[in-house]
Amino acid sequence: MAARGNFSNRLGFILAAAGSAVGLGNIWKFPFEVEAGGGAAFVVVYLIFCFTLCFPVLVTEIAIGRKTEKNPAGAFVALGFPKWKYLGVLGIISGIIILSFYNVVAGWAFGYFIEMAQGNFDIGNQFSDYITNIWRIAVYAILFMGATALIVSKGVSGGIEKAAKILMPTLILMILGILAYSFTLPNAMTGIKYYLVPEFSELNLRVVGGALRQAFFSLSLGMGALITYGSYLSKKENIVSSAASITLFDVGIAFFAGLMLFPLVAYSTGGDMSNIQGGAGLIFVTLPGVFESLGPVLGIVIGSLFFLLLSFAALTSTVSLLEVPVSYIVDEYKANRNTAVIIMAVIIFVAGIPSLLGNGYSDMLTNFITYVGADSPTDFMTFLGQLADIFLLLGGFLIVTFAAYVWKKANLHEELAQGHEGYHQSWVKTFINITVSYLCPALLGMLFVLVVLNNFFGIDIIN
Ligand code: TRP
Repeated sequence: MAARGNFSNRLGFILAAAGSAVGLGNIWKFPFEVEAGGGAAFVVVYLIFCFTLCFPVLVTEIAIGRKTEKNPAGAFVALGFPKWKYLGVLGIISGIIILSFYNVVAGWAFGYFIEMAQGNFDIGNQFSDYITNIWRIAVYAILFMGATALIVSKGVSGGIEKAAKILMPTLILMILGILAYSFTLPNAMTGIKYYLVPEFSELNLRVVGGALRQAFFSLSLGMGALITYGSYLSKKENIVSSAASITLFDVGIAFFAGLMLFPLVAYSTGGDMSNIQGGAGLIFVTLPGVFESLGPVLGIVIGSLFFLLLSFAALTSTVSLLEVPVSYIVDEYKANRNTAVIIMAVIIFVAGIPSLLGNGYSDMLTNFITYVGADSPTDFMTFLGQLADIFLLLGGFLIVTFAAYVWKKANLHEELAQGHEGYHQSWVKTFINITVSYLCPALLGMLFVLVVLNNFFGIDIIN
């Protein structure tokens, strides 16, 4: 399969897949989900989900991809179940939806890097004007999509893997650098406590559902991104241990991102955490002021580093999101890679325009939909995010159910044993067996229904 490309080794695969996983979800979304979900209580639930429910899905996706060497839709056909192709198509559509709005937020992050580099700390106070200035954001979003397209057009080892090998280590260094610095600031401990002391009383269905959605999104699961990356993985590699590294990497970066962020926030509020700006604004509204308080030189250095880091994290994720539809077109329509990249990048950018306009510019898209039982309308981008979240849960549920009962467990195990000596005798096999056949289908199916009812119809069954 030389024409499709391959990762050159295990490290290349892990970094690329971890690059897909680590993104805006970890650095932008995770900390404020933690904040909204009762601090460490959310972290505990999140960790349990990552290792018990998500890890088996991750392993299954990689196995299906590697077995078939195909894109998500082609993979089900290659296994001999042509009707299941629509599950792959659902995944590809989810990827297109996610990238359409993700690219807009990535554009914000990149634009903030440019503002910080110029010392424009006031941008935090002008965040809502900033995202309403659609022409400027459009330029950043086009630049971001262009960079993504360029990397994807260079192929698997020469583009995706190479970019991850440069960007991921840089990202880790930047996080650790800012983290170390943030610990030296006054009130750092207050921030850490706020982040880490659990308040189990705040746990409810919304928080549990939120933790699962966050875990799925963060690990890039449920839409076949890992089927696609798995299709470029050599038969010699150990899937289970690679998946474990990817999970640890992703969870670790999310955790460190919060650890780096909350001391900075506590410093800027003088230790008063009672009315910090939560939600999406935590990074885009609060942080510029924090960087300003570090003084002109250090503020510019740390501030621009931070938003550069956020852009790098986003870039390895947008690359994986674009690769999925591109691999589909290349495999199924025998298209040339460059042509496929250009077509998809343009389509997805255009699909992102409503998300771009829905942050204040267009009233219709800003107040797009009011759910049953909600008091205020939801904007288009948030709506798409929630729609994608449920597609991912549904996709994950169907992928494990397919593997256990349609493709059959024995075939899954056989693929996992390739490159994994002793797999058949290992406890991991038992664990995968139980989770893929019972735990994941049951819990994912149930939580999917609960999240849909809760999110779109305001029905909370548990409370
Ligand atoms: N995981 C990325 C993040 O946390 C986003 C992402 C990339 C993604 N590829 C994906 C999410 C595939 C779901 C499916 O930011």
